[in-house]
Amino acid sequence: MALLQTNSISFGYSHGTPFEITALDHVSFSVDKGETVAVIGHTGSGKSTLMQMLNGLLKPESGAVLMEDRDIHADKQQTRQIRFRVGLCFQYPEYQLFEETCFKDISFGPKNMGLSEEEIRQRVLQAAKIVGLPEELLEKSPFDLSGGQKRRCAIAGVMAMQPEVLILDEPTAGLDPRGRDAVFAMIRSYQRQTNAAVVIVTHSMEDAAQFADRIVVMSHGRLVLDGTADEIFSSAEELMNMGLNVPASTRLVNELRSLGYDLPRNVYTAQAAAEEIASCLRRSRP
Ligand SMILES: Nc1ncnc2c1ncn2[C@@H]1O[C@H](COP(=O)(O)OP(=O)(O)O)[C@@H](O)[C@H]1O
Ligand SMILES: [Mg+2]
Repeated sequence: MALLQTNSISFGYSHGTPFEITALDHVSFSVDKGETVAVIGHTGSGKSTLMQMLNGLLKPESGAVLMEDRDIHADKQQTRQIRFRVGLCFQYPEYQLFEETCFKDISFGPKNMGLSEEEIRQRVLQAAKIVGLPEELLEKSPFDLSGGQKRRCAIAGVMAMQPEVLILDEPTAGLDPRGRDAVFAMIRSYQRQTNAAVVIVTHSMEDAAQFADRIVVMSHGRLVLDGTADEIFSSAEELMNMGLNVPASTRLVNELRSLGYDLPRNVYTAQAAAEEIASCLRRSRP
C-alpha cells in the first residue's frame, strides 16, 4: 500500500470555453513513507496541478486520490485532515506570506489544526530551526526579510504542520547555487526528523538525480516515465524527444563512451563524471 497515490486521475481547466485544456490525463502517481520523488517536466506539463491534487486542493474529474488506500475526498473531515497530513509549499511561496510577523505566518497552519498555544510555539521554533531562520527574525514582518529568508519562512510554515508528505513545487526556483543547497539541506533535515515522504518539483535533472530516490517525468498532462535516475537517464532518447535533457555530465560520459572510452552508463552528477573519467584515464595511462 502506497502512503499517497493517485489512481488514473484526470483533470481539465476552463471547461466549455475555447481555452479548455486537459491538465492531467489518467495520471497514476505514488509515493511511499520516507521516499523522495522528484517530478520533472516542461512548463505546462501538469506538475503543479498534480501537486494540488495530492493535498486535496483540487479534486480529480475522474480517478481517485488515496492516502493509505482511503479516498481523500470520501468526506469533508477526511479532506480537511489531508491538508494537514500532506503539506504543500507552492511555487514562489514567499508571495503568500501575509501575517504581521514571521512567527504568525509560520504558526498559521498549526493554528488551523487546533493545537494548543504551547504546541504551536514549539512547532514554530522547531521549523524555524530546521530552515535556519534565527529566532530574532520571528518577530519581524515577513516583508522586512531578504528574499532567501522569506522563502525559508514560507517553507517553515508548511513544515510546522509536520506533514507526513512534504510537497515542494519548485522550491529552488530563482535561488543561486548556495540558496539551492540550503533548501535541499532543510528538506533532508526535516525528512531525517520525521521520516516524511517528500515530493519535489524541479526543472533540474541534476537535482533530481542527486536528491531523489525516484524520478517521475510529466509531459502534456501525462506521467510518461517513472523510475530511478539510472532507469530514467537510460531513456535519453525518449527524454530528448520530449525536449528534456539528460544531465550534462551524463551526456559527456555517453559521448566519451561512444568514442571508445571504457565508462559506465549510470553517471549523472558532475562529481561522479569527474571520478569516472579520472579513473578511466588512470587505467589507460601508457
Ligand atoms: N488556474 C488555471 N486556469 C486555467 N488553466 C490553467 C490553470 N492552471 C494551469 N493551467 C493550465 O494547465 C496546464 C498545466 O499547468 P500546470 O499544472 O501549472 O503545469 P506545470 O506546473 O508543469 O507548469 C497548462 O496548460 C496551464 O496553462
Ligand atoms: Mg508549475
